[in-house]
Amino acid sequence: MLTLENLGVSVGENGRQKDILKNINLELLPGRVYALTGPNGSGKTTLAKAVMGLVRPTSGRILWEGRDITDLDITARAREGIAYAFQQPVRFKGLKIKDLFALAGADGRAAAYLAQVGLCAADYLEREAGSGLSGGEAKRLEVALTLARRPRLAIFDEPEAGVDLWVQERLLDLVAAPARRGQGVISLVITHSEKFLQQADEVLLLEEGRLVEAGPPDRVWPQLEKDLACRWGNECGGERGAAECYR
Ligand SMILES: Nc1ncnc2c1ncn2[C@@H]1O[C@H](COP(=O)(O)OP(=O)(O)OP(=O)(O)O)[C@@H](O)[C@H]1O
Ligand SMILES: [Mg+2]
Repeated sequence: MLTLENLGVSVGENGRQKDILKNINLELLPGRVYALTGPNGSGKTTLAKAVMGLVRPTSGRILWEGRDITDLDITARAREGIAYAFQQPVRFKGLKIKDLFALAGADGRAAAYLAQVGLCAADYLEREAGSGLSGGEAKRLEVALTLARRPRLAIFDEPEAGVDLWVQERLLDLVAAPARRGQGVISLVITHSEKFLQQADEVLLLEEGRLVEAGPPDRVWPQLEKDLACRWGNECGGERGAAECYR
């Protein structure tokens, strides 16, 4: 189980404090698929990075399977079974794709993971994982590498973004699969895919750094529609911020 307790992330910008995440309380349970959504800039990636240890919380705690991991670094969290597929995958100049799978501890399984994301091992294993990869190829590789780590908490940051229509759906099924296998894995998927949001066990909605809704899709969906209407001024003439719709 992953527990976020009063989690806050603030940064200093132009001499002022900017609160990116505000007092997030959340529990993610084993074997479940969570879809984290919200407008651009609402804090989704920051939340994922805080869980992975890439962003330091300014308040609150992160508990993983009952242990406080707030002060653990990214390597220690990876050892604990937490993995994060970046929204914008890091390009590794000088390393081949097969080297990345070796680093992920998946030497002999690389071809199978590549095949799952629709990349042919014969074409890709010996390729450099640098800037030569297209945006969609890099994204698919990122998902394959994250799955190859066999995490117990698998976080995917917009896995469908920039990926062609033919692979998008498959990729979304793939990122839910670890949790669906019944081995107690948690899949946390940041997404804007309407279809995925409706298939998830639980939808988490972030608005301006606040978790404004968390629940089954049929409960959160009407809120999302209301939010969209509000954002585009259909209901309140654009007078209020979207977060105010919920008050
Ligand atoms: N280091 C930083 N310094 C200043 N502002 C930051 C920093 N990191 C994130 N932000 C800001 O915090 C907000 C949340 O960013 P974040 O990347 O978490 O959003 P997001 O919900 O993932 O958005 P998107 O849907 O566009 O990916 C944004 O306004 C972003 O500009
Ligand atoms: Mg993001």
